[in-house]
Amino acid sequence: MDHHPCLYTQTHMDGDLGKLVFVTALILLHFGKYVGSDEPQVPCYFIFGDSLVDGGNNNHLETKWKANYLPYGIDFPQGYTGRFTNGRTSADIIGQFLGIDDFIPSYAIATIDQFSKGVNYASGGGGIQEESGHHNGDRVSLDRQLLNHNSTVSSLSRVAKNTTILKECIYVVNIGSNDYINNYLMVGKYYNTGQIYSKDQYAEVLTQQYSQQLRTLYNLGGRKIALFGLSHIGCIPYMLKRFSTNGKPCVGWINDVIDAFNYKLKALVDELNKDKSDARFTFINTAGILFAQGVFNEIYVYMIFFSERALQSPPCCQLTGDWACTLKSVPCPIRSLSVYFDAIHPTELSNMAIATRAYKAVLPTDAYPYDIYHLTKV
Ligand SMILES: *[C@@H]1O[C@H](CO)[C@@H](O)[C@H](O)[C@H]1NC(C)=O
Ligand SMILES: *[C@@H]1O[C@H](CO)[C@@H](O)[C@H](O)[C@H]1NC(C)=O
Repeated sequence: MDHHPCLYTQTHMDGDLGKLVFVTALILLHFGKYVGSDEPQVPCYFIFGDSLVDGGNNNHLETKWKANYLPYGIDFPQGYTGRFTNGRTSADIIGQFLGIDDFIPSYAIATIDQFSKGVNYASGGGGIQEESGHHNGDRVSLDRQLLNHNSTVSSLSRVAKNTTILKECIYVVNIGSNDYINNYLMVGKYYNTGQIYSKDQYAEVLTQQYSQQLRTLYNLGGRKIALFGLSHIGCIPYMLKRFSTNGKPCVGWINDVIDAFNYKLKALVDELNKDKSDARFTFINTAGILFAQGVFNEIYVYMIFFSERALQSPPCCQLTGDWACTLKSVPCPIRSLSVYFDAIHPTELSNMAIATRAYKAVLPTDAYPYDIYHLTKV
């Protein structure tokens, strides 16, 4: 950290306002590097995943996986939209880095003339496995997201006749968290995978199913596909409340369980790139970007450095139940000093850290083998 001159300027500024100005300036500095190019870098951008990138697909479902009320969206231009964070998701920010003007519409409300520029299929509570998240009601699993994409592609081929353009699109897939939080780690009442499988066996079950799903995406024309690894779920407030950390900052065994999945996902990327030589799959190291210690971690390190609150990582909003923000409650005033918005979901600032480094890797370990910027070029 010593090599950043701003650090010392900051120590002379007192209070939260100074921190806010500093953090905001840093973000704008970053953002300026990539936005401002007039031309979109890709013709289209498709988003698959769970609540980390949901843009409102759950709003009309019968489900407790909902975020279409304040204080969710408090920092989003259109207010609350069903995004499970205070502002933009990482998928929103990556879309802006790609030079795409508007936020990609949710499948639930997208019109046929919007399909050709991209659709967001992501759904809070959804998983690689059909059953994941079912105890809280409806959600769109990855299998069903792919069926929806199949319909989109069919509509496009009826209208455009030629769907070659789909090969030029960027596809992001950010899924798997619910297969752990709302399945494997929720032992007993609703799910039995935690009793049946070791962490390595379960990671194998998931990546095998994921492999089939990604081959379907390929068969529907996808060629530039970024797969987001899972975050260190052992550090989220929801888990810190449920499990002992044995005096450590995070629940270590949960992070080990997650690492087993990430390890196999990275291997899957190699396998798919070998099998499908005209496609490019890549792994985004979400956990490394957010939680790597002792490295120059850009925005995120500064945020944590300036905020003991952030280091302890309490949720920014007041909670009702295990994880969700209380309807119309007043959240923490300075969201740019929080890692988590509710007890599970990252704030916009965390999403910015992930998106920034997914788009342009800072460390070679951030993205393997390509960051998204390079994915647009290959
Ligand atoms: C489809 O469009 C691409 C360019 O986007 C073109 O290269 C290709 O020849 C077209 N294929 C057909 C069957 O028209
Ligand atoms: C898309 O759906 C059609 C009709 O159900 C099916 O025949 C086809 O195999 C599907 N495509 C893929 C790639 O799954």
